[in-house]
Amino acid sequence: MTAATELLSPPGTVALHGEDPAWQALLRQGAPGEGGVPFLDGESLLHALYGPLCAMRRRGSTYVVGHLAQSLDGRIATTCGVSRWLSGDEDLLHTHRMRAIADAVLVGASTVQHDDPQLTVRLCAGEHPTRVILDPERRLDGSQKVFTDGKAPTLLLVAADRMGREPRCGQAEVIPISRGEHGLDPFEIRRVLALRGLHWLFVEGGGITVSRFLAAGALDRLQITVAPVIIGSGRPSLVLPEIHDLAHSLRPRTRRFLLGDDTMIECAFHE
Ligand SMILES: NC(=O)c1ccc[n+]([C@@H]2O[C@H](COP(=O)([O-])OP(=O)(O)OC[C@H]3O[C@@H](n4cnc5c(N)ncnc54)[C@H](OP(=O)(O)O)[C@@H]3O)[C@@H](O)[C@H]2O)c1
Repeated sequence: MTAATELLSPPGTVALHGEDPAWQALLRQGAPGEGGVPFLDGESLLHALYGPLCAMRRRGSTYVVGHLAQSLDGRIATTCGVSRWLSGDEDLLHTHRMRAIADAVLVGASTVQHDDPQLTVRLCAGEHPTRVILDPERRLDGSQKVFTDGKAPTLLLVAADRMGREPRCGQAEVIPISRGEHGLDPFEIRRVLALRGLHWLFVEGGGITVSRFLAAGALDRLQITVAPVIIGSGRPSLVLPEIHDLAHSLRPRTRRFLLGDDTMIECAFHE
């Protein structure tokens, strides 16, 4: 497929304000032309970026968007797992907006272990998504915020053979998932979450978790925010099975957005 790239925001003009009334209208009603949000001056980025994502949400079928913030040299954290704050404020606000659109936000066990994130919506208007933690071996001890703060429904996905007798981990419900060829099967995860009414999924990291969804063909879109930083070592962003011929590389349709000093490239694999 031929790559088609659009540059949707000229340098230095992006202003993503957390309590922007246009954002709240977009969340409530959807994209322009699909629900009647007025198109106001200065809000083109907001509508261009989130309008199609909100539209997918209204379709009601499962839709999965991954996101990673990485350095110029393709790292998402230092070797010992420090990732705060690789990208800038605009990308942080963007992740909160993605959480607000999503039914569920998914992260891998290592992200919970290193970051102890809340995974709630705090920088913009919107409801907290259900938090989903992928911990097949049940190595997290339940002391982290997502298991104790009670701020949003939380699901802990574990390998079916590690389910044991304990149906809860702190305040989180433990759900068994069958193992696939490479860990928990992303399509089984999508299916199990859809049965609970969780259709629009935001896979927020880390690199291993997003890579497994991508390798399985279970991502509909992937957003990579590139920060102008060189780390030179550390945890990798995407890692996929080796290919020997560039003809086998993925060449999705892309859109580019400038988020402050960072550039976000959004890849669309499926519409
Ligand atoms: N820059 C960013 O955008 C960003 C975002 C999030 C996190 N981070 C940083 O990235 C680091 C963590 O990322 P990471 O890539 O090392 O790990 P990760 O993706 O957070 O977690 C990976 C672990 O989660 C489990 N897992 C995830 N998907 C699975 C699947 N499909 N099947 C089975 N198990 C699955 C596995 O646990 P087991 O090993 O127990 O099998 C796997 O090792 C942290 O340092 C964090 O600070 C950065």
